[in-house]
Amino acid sequence: MKINFIDLQAQYLEYQKEIDSEVLEVFSSAQFIGGEKLNNLEKSLAAYTGAKHAIGCSSGTDALLLSLMALDIGYGDEVITTPFTFIATAEVIAFLGAKPVFVDIDEESYNIDPSKIENVISDRTKAIIPVSLYGQCANMEAINEIATKHDLPVIEDACQSFGATYNGKKSCNLSTIGCTSFFPSKPLGAYGDGGAIFTNDDELATKMRMLLNHGQNERYKHKYIGINGRLDAVQAAVLNVKLKHFDKEVKARDEIGSRYNDLLEDADVITPKIAEDNISVFAQYSIRVKDREAMVEKLKAQDIPSAVHYPVPLHLQEAFVNLGYKEGDFPISEEVSTQIMSLPMSPYLTEQQQDFIVKTIKGE
Ligand SMILES: Cc1ncc(COP(=O)(O)O)c(C=O)c1O
Repeated sequence: MKINFIDLQAQYLEYQKEIDSEVLEVFSSAQFIGGEKLNNLEKSLAAYTGAKHAIGCSSGTDALLLSLMALDIGYGDEVITTPFTFIATAEVIAFLGAKPVFVDIDEESYNIDPSKIENVISDRTKAIIPVSLYGQCANMEAINEIATKHDLPVIEDACQSFGATYNGKKSCNLSTIGCTSFFPSKPLGAYGDGGAIFTNDDELATKMRMLLNHGQNERYKHKYIGINGRLDAVQAAVLNVKLKHFDKEVKARDEIGSRYNDLLEDADVITPKIAEDNISVFAQYSIRVKDREAMVEKLKAQDIPSAVHYPVPLHLQEAFVNLGYKEGDFPISEEVSTQIMSLPMSPYLTEQQQDFIVKTIKGE
């Protein structure tokens, strides 16, 4: 049985007519940067999340970078985040000359543990970046409470959680700034790189719009040192089509994730725990197993793809050796990183495929 890890071909075939027509409109209009497609997308993204401002940009990494730049974070500053994430979250902090300060994760959600944040707040702390990992929002209420107490902005790294719901509100609109990624394999994926930034703060929105266009406030007048962080019109056209169908896909992801949980209940694995008032978009469906290597091989023998998000926590990455962390500093992140693995997940995964994956895991 052929099983894709993420089935982007099936998705294209389903929306092909609409996508082709939207993209061809961009080609014939020759409006490749900015323009109507991007404006429409930004309006739809703002309406979808409820955020006042949605700003398209070149990637999730640049969304995070632009957020930190807008908050004037740089040399000597500290930013609190989790070591159990994709490197981009902490990379942008270090890239600006600031210091990522890690806090271990909660064992159930794999998101930053709010009860450990206050221990590391110093007078150099300038922001907190919780990551809504695997599609489930971090405990934003507790994090926002701590941030308010210490007068700190919160940037939600929602690169895996666009479409997720937290206590009735949408991910990306849960804190000072929300950042998402439209990398092709994300729940809402473009056909190349892309991302978006969300905020309800007018001043930050204006500044981030300038920063992503070389700090320009008018043509060839540069108020800030910025970057080229624009989202192009072809990606906006693709996203406009996919966003129309997105709620249906989020529902399918939720059903498939819940079905995995039910089917794996009696298996010797730890399934994802989704907090009561959360709806996860299951950017990854990740389980914990005692012997990951053996499980990966067992699946591979049946042509079932799997992946590991993430095998090495950031505090143990060579790139961050200068931060001075060592093994044992974040025991939960370290343990989870040796056990975690992601199974095939997409709105197009059939029950038959899912049954086959589960049976293989159980050795039936
Ligand atoms: C948690 C997290 N943060 C940041 C990023 C960076 O997003 P992008 O690949 O669009 O730059 C990703 C995407 O891989 C991610 O998963």
